[in-house]
Amino acid sequence: MPSVYIKTYGCQMNERDSEAVAAQLVAKGYTLAVSEAVADVILLNTCSVRDAAEQKAIGKMQNLAAEMRRNRPDVVLGFMGCMAQSRGQQLIDKLPDVDLVIGTQKFHRTVEHLDDILAGKRAKVVDVGAEQGSEGTIREHILNGNTAEKSVTAFVSIMQGCNQYCTFCIVPYTRGEERSRTIPDIVAECRELVARGVKEITLLGQIVTSYGKRDLPLKDGKSAFVQLLEAVHEIDGLERIRFTSPHPKGYGDDLVEAYGRLPKLVESAHLPVQSGSDRLLKLMHRGYTRERYLGIIAKLRRVQPAMGITTDIIVGFPGETELDFEATLSLAREVQFDNAFIFKYSPRRDTPAADMAGQLPQEVKEERNARLLALVNEIGARHYQRCVGCRAQILVEGPSKKNPARMMGRTRSNKIVVFDGSERHRGQLMDVQVTRAGSFTLYGDPAIVNL
Ligand code: SAH
Ligand code: F3S
Repeated sequence: MPSVYIKTYGCQMNERDSEAVAAQLVAKGYTLAVSEAVADVILLNTCSVRDAAEQKAIGKMQNLAAEMRRNRPDVVLGFMGCMAQSRGQQLIDKLPDVDLVIGTQKFHRTVEHLDDILAGKRAKVVDVGAEQGSEGTIREHILNGNTAEKSVTAFVSIMQGCNQYCTFCIVPYTRGEERSRTIPDIVAECRELVARGVKEITLLGQIVTSYGKRDLPLKDGKSAFVQLLEAVHEIDGLERIRFTSPHPKGYGDDLVEAYGRLPKLVESAHLPVQSGSDRLLKLMHRGYTRERYLGIIAKLRRVQPAMGITTDIIVGFPGETELDFEATLSLAREVQFDNAFIFKYSPRRDTPAADMAGQLPQEVKEERNARLLALVNEIGARHYQRCVGCRAQILVEGPSKKNPARMMGRTRSNKIVVFDGSERHRGQLMDVQVTRAGSFTLYGDPAIVNL
């Protein structure tokens, strides 16, 4: 059977989509190639959030196309995901060697399209329509990649799309309307994962705080998302629950309180703020104020003082003044984020912000990016330094990426701990003594492991 190589750009949702497609292909007899050099089919799962991400995937495809035309003309080339969705046929017009373009509601059709192309039934396929029920089609998992080892953590997609229409964001156009899977469907998938050895599940969606909003009424004052958390929490053998990403607008007290009630819900929150300026938050159509955001953080820390808090911030949004930017710096100082992902504003086609007055020059974006990054790194370093000397529970995931001779796990607050361990530690929850802090990494003392 043909072998397939999938390269993924972008967020965890894209990673998850690629994993599901890979599993669907394997179920139909395809094999997974270890590299693109030996693959019969090469698929790029793309990201559109910033222009740079699109250019990277297009550049990659240009190189692949040139090489395959020279050396292996039978290799099938395809684009999947967000850029495939928003550019569709244009991608083939621009890159005529591309055979397949699959949108974000059509991942599950990859197998049949590849079958057709490989059998010579169709030369090119562009499939980017909307499909009812597609939110329930990302459910298969490849738990061990290409190795015999078991996966300890897994991602579960609970919804697709976003209706928030932040003025800078292309996601509502590439991922479509919000559509949620049912609680029983999600719980069944989680149960299966736990039966296969998974200990930690991350629930995924573009705006998980809107999960099930239109389908499930409040129950005892609890939102559909909190009802889902409770149902997943019931699963025996599951040790930890995470989720990403919530939206401050929908971050109710019921969700804050869930951290106090549900012990498997770990002390970690990724809560994108984007800006510290109310004026900008309004222009961004975020639906909350600085004060409301700070209020959520304060409540979370009241319920769980050890809460690890991370965020996303955009610098250089149209019209951002020095004063607006300083409000972002002061918010970062006030919240003391464990880490923050900083993005330089990138105008996206068809989004309102792309046409707003006051587009800023690249130098201003670079300069603000550097200033904010320095602050975020300084605050982050202090957080990590503060862990030194503490005991922390980690869930061991496998070898450290940077140094495969050592093992790594994550604390409940989502900090990576590297330690001298062995394969037998994989999947274990254990206490380590933190001895040293590096850049956004902790090191644990092996001598004190599991005494
Ligand atoms: N709700 C999703 C957001 C996806 S985009 C989630 O939280 O996962 C991820 C991040 O990219 C956003 O939080 C934002 O900070 C950044 N981003 C989105 N559009 C952008 C743009 N046009 N320019 C720069 N950064 C952007
Ligand atoms: Fe994008 Fe805003 Fe939704 S950032 S994914 S439109 S919440």
